Amino acid sequence: MSEINETDLKILKYPNPILKKVSEPVEVFDDELAKFVKDLFTAMRASDGVGLAAPQVGVLKKIAVVEYDEKKYVLINPKVIDQKGIADDEEGCLSFPGIYAHVQRPEWVKIETFDVHGEKQTYEASGFTARAFLHEMDHLSGKLFIDYLSNLKRNAIKKKVSKNTGGHF
Ligand code: NI
Repeated sequence: MSEINETDLKILKYPNPILKKVSEPVEVFDDELAKFVKDLFTAMRASDGVGLAAPQVGVLKKIAVVEYDEKKYVLINPKVIDQKGIADDEEGCLSFPGIYAHVQRPEWVKIETFDVHGEKQTYEASGFTARAFLHEMDHLSGKLFIDYLSNLKRNAIKKKVSKNTGGHF
């Protein structure tokens, strides 16, 4: 039996200007929020992603989801409260289909976040999960993974995206 994986959410692709905007904190934890979080997971899975942030679907709220290693995380108004080490690994983004680049990030993080019920949660993660948390949290501040790259690498990616989409910069 196939799972129904339908949502109206469309993932915005770079260089959509919404991706560079700073999201607003969530203040109301209601059914609408729970439904939106569920839809974010659906849209993320439909694109084979491990994380998706609200601004990537045009909603400027501090909400993101991560699913990795069979664990699901809901990040609402998340913040990093501790971090250790440095890890260099390849990452991609659902807003940059087919584009991957090495980015340096902390190897371990401790984050504080809220769940859909407005309860505070603390997560510690290392490696790829830590990277996913940090990547998604960046989206909530309008920061993209290409912002970590050298001008040379970033311009090469912009050129490639422009060729793919016919977009202008
Ligand atoms: Ni991303």
